[in-house]
Amino acid sequence: MSTVEAPAKARAQIKERTLRKDDWRLYPILTFVFFTAWVVYATVRAFWGSAFFVEEYHYLTPFYSPCFNELCGPAAEFGTFLPAGTRGWIPFAAISLPFLLLFRLTCYYYRKAYYRSFWLSPPACAVAEPHKKYSGERRFPLIGQNLHRYFWLAAALISIVNTYDAILAFHGKDGGFGIGLGSLILTANVILLWLYTLSCHSCRHVVGGRLKNFSKHPVRYWMWGQISKLNARHGQYALITLVSLVVADFYVMLVASETISDLRFFN
Ligand code: FES
Repeated sequence: MSTVEAPAKARAQIKERTLRKDDWRLYPILTFVFFTAWVVYATVRAFWGSAFFVEEYHYLTPFYSPCFNELCGPAAEFGTFLPAGTRGWIPFAAISLPFLLLFRLTCYYYRKAYYRSFWLSPPACAVAEPHKKYSGERRFPLIGQNLHRYFWLAAALISIVNTYDAILAFHGKDGGFGIGLGSLILTANVILLWLYTLSCHSCRHVVGGRLKNFSKHPVRYWMWGQISKLNARHGQYALITLVSLVVADFYVMLVASETISDLRFFN
């Protein structure tokens, strides 16, 4: 008769920090550099206060949407409660940016990425971390990560606003309909933002979670299946949208500052 051994009470005592022989440092280092560069760029642009809108074609950078400063001009589709004097101190998109930041900060993908690259907790699989204690996400402050589902709702609403901006970006030189490179860049960015938002683990749970019986909910089951497919690429969408946001913002900045002119395909 075979006997079942009781589980070990302590971790294996290994002197080496890791037995891994591959280049496990690459992922945390690259992630650290990429995220830091992105945060610096986004912060500078969010507080910049100019070159965010091309009135002629109605191109609004996503970093300023929805735009609430008195200086937003025709870009202010939802009111202007921020006085002009707050420029440089408060971002024009003061409502959406904190929610988007919290949405990304609590995202399951980013959690993995910045726990590894910024906190080294742990820096990679099977590599010991420098921290002595670990209380997981059950205590303050990391228990706040559980609010992700609510930030997802806010992000979905902001994606609707971004979609509206992208539709308005099909604005012609002489009024009416027009297409320029900016319209296409802003539209591509919105599509990627939706892929990122809809592939979220919380979205998957909102759509198909807490069901006892899928066969009684065929529509929700179908949607859950589609979102599950997207969910498999969630990490990729998380990274691609960082790039698409910068590309969209940078292009609008170049056109708005008259450094380049928009490439027009129609009107
Ligand atoms: Fe990444 Fe929800 S898990 S956005």
